[in-house]
Amino acid sequence: MNAVLGVSGSIAAYRAADLARELMRAGFTVRVCLTDAAQEFVSVALFEALTGQPCLIDTFDEPERGRMAHIDWARAADVVVVAPATANTLNRLAAGVGDDMLTTLCLASTRPLVLAPAMNPQMYLHEATQASLALLEERGAVIVEPLEGDVACGESGQGKLASIPEIVAAVLETVSVSTVLKGKKVVITSGPTREPIDDVRYITNRSSGKMGSALARAALRLGADVTVVAGPQTARFPSGVSVLRVETAQEMHDLALTAAKGADYIVGAAAVADYHVANRTSGKLRRTAENLELVLSPNPDIIAALAAANPGATVIGFAAEPTSDLSVAQAKLKRKGLFAIAANDVSQAGQGFDTDTNKLDLVFADGRSVSSEMMSKNQCARWFWDQILKES
Ligand SMILES: Cc1cc2nc3c(=O)[nH]c(=O)nc-3n(C[C@H](O)[C@H](O)[C@H](O)COP(=O)(O)O)c2cc1C
Repeated sequence: MNAVLGVSGSIAAYRAADLARELMRAGFTVRVCLTDAAQEFVSVALFEALTGQPCLIDTFDEPERGRMAHIDWARAADVVVVAPATANTLNRLAAGVGDDMLTTLCLASTRPLVLAPAMNPQMYLHEATQASLALLEERGAVIVEPLEGDVACGESGQGKLASIPEIVAAVLETVSVSTVLKGKKVVITSGPTREPIDDVRYITNRSSGKMGSALARAALRLGADVTVVAGPQTARFPSGVSVLRVETAQEMHDLALTAAKGADYIVGAAAVADYHVANRTSGKLRRTAENLELVLSPNPDIIAALAAANPGATVIGFAAEPTSDLSVAQAKLKRKGLFAIAANDVSQAGQGFDTDTNKLDLVFADGRSVSSEMMSKNQCARWFWDQILKES
């Protein structure tokens, strides 16, 4: 297996040396292409010594005389990995610019592209960067999301290069074509719902939809035909996943029941509002001196309805509980007629709503349970499918 490792001009460029070694340990022949800015941080000599291969830096480099290296390398690669990927390089890749060797090589490549962004949190949040990431992901690139934390510039937020094992796992998964779920239909609900109070206000929750997106991504990589019924979530979906957008719990219920017909696996990862506002006002409620009373009526139990309507499917629910006591999740599983329930203790830091990491306890109908480590949501999703496939 051949990997081209593109290194761009981030302070995290030094970590690409470890990545090159780990990719080699995983069985790849690694050839490195550095941008001009990357060479301010790391050297060609470092990567040539590590990989035993020549590096590319300039568009007109020709390690083999008379051969166009950008085409040769693009053709020979099984995967192109850009790590760290700067905001500049991501934006150039999204725009289809080929103004240096790395971007030209990416333009010439038809191979899977894995991108691991690393940058200052403001640069990451910039609309241009976010739009580029969304576009690149839509085109099929695999984004290994940066982590939250303190970054080198002294700020705190999302922008730290993902861990090397996480990038290697994403690369391995991208190149290995799994067929375990080939021909299987997977339907996932994801994200929060919004329950309108009037035409401009709503009740919602902290769900980002990251877990639902990760579950969809992992199922897609296992070869499944994946549909997600998604509330108004911020997390992106990879291309290849069919996404049906909804807003309220009732809309999610109606669309999920239609989408789930004939499904083999149904996963309820959405954080569905338990109630909607029965006395919803049209227009905009005006401030008065009086108390305002909202009447909340129960929403349909979507996962229970999905389980009842699809007896042939393996139906798994999610339960965000502010406790590590699994008996609550177990009771839910029984009441709703599920195959299993994935419980996460949202009272603990780093798991549950709007975090990049999670830790799941998967409880089965017969009372057994298995627990994951605290991991990234993508790793957690892979673990989830491994467990479900073992048991179903
Ligand atoms: C000390 C230093 C650290 C930098 N770190 C980053 C970084 O982590 N991520 C990023 O997107 N840009 C970073 N930059 C800015 C890029 O190096 C700059 O945008 C450059 O043009 C990127 O070129 P490239 O994408 O071709 O590598 C840094 C600049 C300096 C001077």
